[in-house]
Amino acid sequence: MLRERGEMTGYEWKPEYELGDVTIDTQHRQLLELANLVLEACARGRDERVIWKTFSALHHYTSTHFDDEEKMLAAAGSPLLEEQRRQHVALTAELKQLWTASRLNLLQDVMESLSSWLASRLIPHMMQADREARWGHLGGEAEAGKDRTAA
Ligand SMILES: [Fe+2]
Ligand SMILES: [Fe+2]
Repeated sequence: MLRERGEMTGYEWKPEYELGDVTIDTQHRQLLELANLVLEACARGRDERVIWKTFSALHHYTSTHFDDEEKMLAAAGSPLLEEQRRQHVALTAELKQLWTASRLNLLQDVMESLSSWLASRLIPHMMQADREARWGHLGGEAEAGKDRTAA
């Protein structure tokens, strides 16, 4: 999954990541792009300040994305809200811990730990819990029909 092409390092978007909701898919793409910026900054041996700023942006955007998902699930009265919330709290804490630990170590550790977090935690969350949420169908068929009529 991790691509390394010359100086390029990161995760390419794959068709199977698409969940069919434009808001969620756009945000997921953005998350991977931000993560790739961190990985590339590390791979290129960029100034540490650049790496931490990029990492901070990733952390911030991850929280924003999780908040948006939870708002959508709450608005639809989805029974999946609590499980999503539980996973989001864990993922956010892991990312923050990874960031804090990385600041004390070598840059190579940032790449390895962030890559492994993406592969083992964030992408599986997108593929499983987020897929189960069926964003496009939240609110039931009546709501979905109303949206289509309005569009
Ligand atoms: Fe998500
Ligand atoms: Fe989620």
